[in-house]
Amino acid sequence: VVWTDFERATIQDVFSKIDAQSVGQQALSRCLVVYPWTQRYFGKFGNLYNAAAIAGNQMVAAHGLTVVRGLEKAAKNMDNIKATFTDLSKLHSEKLHVDPDNFKLLADCITIVISASMGASFTAEVQAALQKFLSVVISALGMQYH
Ligand code: HEM
Repeated sequence: VVWTDFERATIQDVFSKIDAQSVGQQALSRCLVVYPWTQRYFGKFGNLYNAAAIAGNQMVAAHGLTVVRGLEKAAKNMDNIKATFTDLSKLHSEKLHVDPDNFKLLADCITIVISASMGASFTAEVQAALQKFLSVVISALGMQYH
C-alpha cells in the first residue's frame, strides 16, 4: 500500500484527536444494534437484549476501547499493517471464528462515529483517508483466513 503525506498525517491526526473510549464504545454498540447477528460472538458479555442494554453494558465499552487500541497500533505501523495484525487475524479466524464480512460492518460503524465526533473537520478527503486505512486493516485481519 502506498500512502500519501496527506493520508499519513490525517490518520495520525484522527487517532490523536478522538476519544478512544467513547468512539470504541459507540462504534461497537452501534454495530451490535444495527447488525444484531454480530452479537453471537459476544455471548459472555451478558445482557445485549436491546439498544439500551447494549449502550449500558460495561463489557461492550471495554471491548470497544480494545478495538480502538488495535486501530491505534495499526496507525503507528502504517507501512506494516499486515504483519502487525498477523496474530490478531489468526485469533479472529482460528479461535473466534468471526465471519470476516463483519469486519467491514464494524469499520463502517467506526467511520460513522468518528465522523459524528469530528464534525466539520471530517471533510471528504479525511473520510477517504480513513476509509482507505480501514480497508487495509480489514484486509490484514482477513489475511490468516483459509
Ligand atoms: C478480540 C480488534 C473486529 C469479535 C479482539 C481484540 C482486538 C480486536 C485488539 C483483543 C485481542 C486479544 O485479546 O489479544 C478488532 C479490530 C476489528 C475487530 C481492530 C475491526 C476493525 C471484530 C468483529 C467481531 C470481533 C467484527 C465480531 C463481530 C471479537 C471477539 C473478541 C475479539 C469475540 C474476543 C473478545 C473477548 O474474549 O473478550 N478484537 N476486532 N472483532 N474480537 Fe475483534
